[in-house]
Amino acid sequence: MKQKNYKRTTVTAALPYANGPVHIGHLAGVYVPADIYARYLRLKGREVLFVCGSDEHGVPVTIRAKKEGCTVQDVVDRYHGIIKKSFADFGISFDIYSRTTSKTHHQFAADFFKKLYDEGKFVEITSEQFYDEETHQFLTDRNIKGECPRCHAEGAYGDQCEKCGATLSPEELINPVNAINGNPLVKKATKHWYLPLDQYQGWLEDWILKGHPEWRSNVYGQCKSWLDGGLKPRAVTRDLDWGIPVPVEGAEGKVLYVWFDAPIGYISNTKELCEKEPEKWGTWQQWWQDDETRLIHFIGKDNIVFHCIVFPAMLKAHGDYILPDNVPANEFLNLEGNKISTSKNYAVWLNEYLEELPNRQDELRYVLTANAPETKDNDFTWADFQARCNNELVAVYGNFVNRALQLTQKYYNGIVPECGEPTDTDKATLAEFASVKDNVEKLIEGFKFREAQKEAMNLARIGNKYIADEEPWKVIKTDPERVKTVIYISLQLTANLAIAFEPFLPFSSAKLREMIGLQIVDSGQLTVDSCHADCDQQSTLNSQLSTVNWEDLGKTDLLPAGKQLGKPSLLFSKIEDETIKFQTDKLEATIKANEAANATVAPVKETVAFDDFTKLDIRVATVLECERVPKMKKLLKFKLDDGTPKGRTIVSGIAQWYEPEQLVGKQVLFIANLAPREFKNGLVSEGMILSAENYDGSISVTTVEKPVKGGSQVC
Ligand code: MF3
Ligand code: ZN
Repeated sequence: MKQKNYKRTTVTAALPYANGPVHIGHLAGVYVPADIYARYLRLKGREVLFVCGSDEHGVPVTIRAKKEGCTVQDVVDRYHGIIKKSFADFGISFDIYSRTTSKTHHQFAADFFKKLYDEGKFVEITSEQFYDEETHQFLTDRNIKGECPRCHAEGAYGDQCEKCGATLSPEELINPVNAINGNPLVKKATKHWYLPLDQYQGWLEDWILKGHPEWRSNVYGQCKSWLDGGLKPRAVTRDLDWGIPVPVEGAEGKVLYVWFDAPIGYISNTKELCEKEPEKWGTWQQWWQDDETRLIHFIGKDNIVFHCIVFPAMLKAHGDYILPDNVPANEFLNLEGNKISTSKNYAVWLNEYLEELPNRQDELRYVLTANAPETKDNDFTWADFQARCNNELVAVYGNFVNRALQLTQKYYNGIVPECGEPTDTDKATLAEFASVKDNVEKLIEGFKFREAQKEAMNLARIGNKYIADEEPWKVIKTDPERVKTVIYISLQLTANLAIAFEPFLPFSSAKLREMIGLQIVDSGQLTVDSCHADCDQQSTLNSQLSTVNWEDLGKTDLLPAGKQLGKPSLLFSKIEDETIKFQTDKLEATIKANEAANATVAPVKETVAFDDFTKLDIRVATVLECERVPKMKKLLKFKLDDGTPKGRTIVSGIAQWYEPEQLVGKQVLFIANLAPREFKNGLVSEGMILSAENYDGSISVTTVEKPVKGGSQVC
């Protein structure tokens, strides 16, 4: 494939649903890679527009509103605010973050639909759909529940069974009901407009399968399997009262399908920006309709079909638009081995993360990129987070920079020393870091952010090794001239690190740049209070600032001899064990709470005759002694006062739940006429103590409310 010479790039990141806060899965899958890419392009001096916003239509937000007992508008207002702030806090450098409930968007999406409608690009199909006669509503797939036809679990949705994962259609459900109120449903005819994807099949095959073999294999593969399966017309309208009204006569009570309007949001948000700042951004058409603009969509894998097949077919049907040149979709990020879930509250929410680990944005960005689910699903664990922060950010990058800056301070009052004649090691080191630029560039442009960041970290490793091998703190006593060269080279490496890490770790890069007085072209705004957190050296350094950009990466004279540097402070600090424990405890508590909520009461056993019941001789006994059984971890051995002079021995598998001494003196219930049972070690149990099994599997021994004599019957 020949690479076209594009003039500018439009970078989009999937519009998140405004039905909850955003979590690390969102960040890792879409927003951090998109941000790295946009920052990189800006650093290279390319023209770039980075656009996103909240997806505020669709069923998910309406479900959330019902759950929270408030209006849909309340829900989207609240979460739009939270999401927007989280992205800004993490330095995701959108040029615009708007919303699909904006006036501009409603108008734009309605016009888009109207044009296709007027030109006869849709087909009208009337079909029977599920209807709730009491609320006068057609129900969307997600709002229908019933028994799963595959695994027979209750509560499967009209589009999917969450128990067995089967993809379903509402027709397949056994006893479908309205998921919100439980009402029974009837079938009723309704008319909708469909985009006839089948008519675009050949064109899509050419464009994707022949035209874009370079797309990631997960993306290309998914497209191919959709195409191989044969495309069918897709409804682009819905019977719903939340969304953009279908702008044609006879469509009352119908709105545009959320997947029709949301991607148009990329364009309408661009329009909003261009109208706000036309001098800076030009026209929206430039970003969406000019052949010299390259369009890149960053998304998660569940969005592939919409961005590679449906949206392009919409753009094609409309005409005039450019198509995505690449769609680097990521796989999913799991959390401690489990699926992240908004509805189950199992996630690391970005807003909570920042409250609990303030000013640690780059740490999370770093770890999420290091574990980016680029080619397969990946797992985020807090132990790995701690290890990467402490062993890589602190021990390699932070340590190297700190040594270089502290020694400059100590030996030369913070003034960059002169470089002497370089030794062979010096030359080898310089040569090594000169190659970093090319490597990182190739990787970023190939959307391999994980490896690209590794390459940047390698630069720090080179520095760390260099300074450790050269031992300037020793050499200073014997050959102070030599130390000047070592420090000079270390400082150039430091400046290179500030550039190389800028797209990945913009907060620490900004901090480092301030310490060394290195001005860089703007790669994207950061929230002011986080980036200037502990640097107020601006004024002293300003006089010596020179502006660098990505192309300066690899240079060995970024900080000229004689330049006064600022006061060094640590770039990163250690993540303590307590911090990690707090987080893992929190996740475990969520799992427990979910288990409790999901616990179903065990089915009641078959009915038995009263006579059968009276066959069991249940009695009360007082625990006289209780002890663990050697080599049998689960067992406790009880000596009971059962009213007989001899007493009774019962062995019970509850050692995990009690210390033996806790039970001495307690009165317990036991079955007195159960056939004795012999254990492997010869121990004989004369009956069984009754206990209750809690939802989480823990055991609680049953006891009596008022003391009674040992041997009393339970009846
Ligand atoms: N809201 C969708 C999701 O979270 C993504 C919409 S992307 C867009 O899966 F293209 F439609 F905007
Ligand atoms: Zn099922």
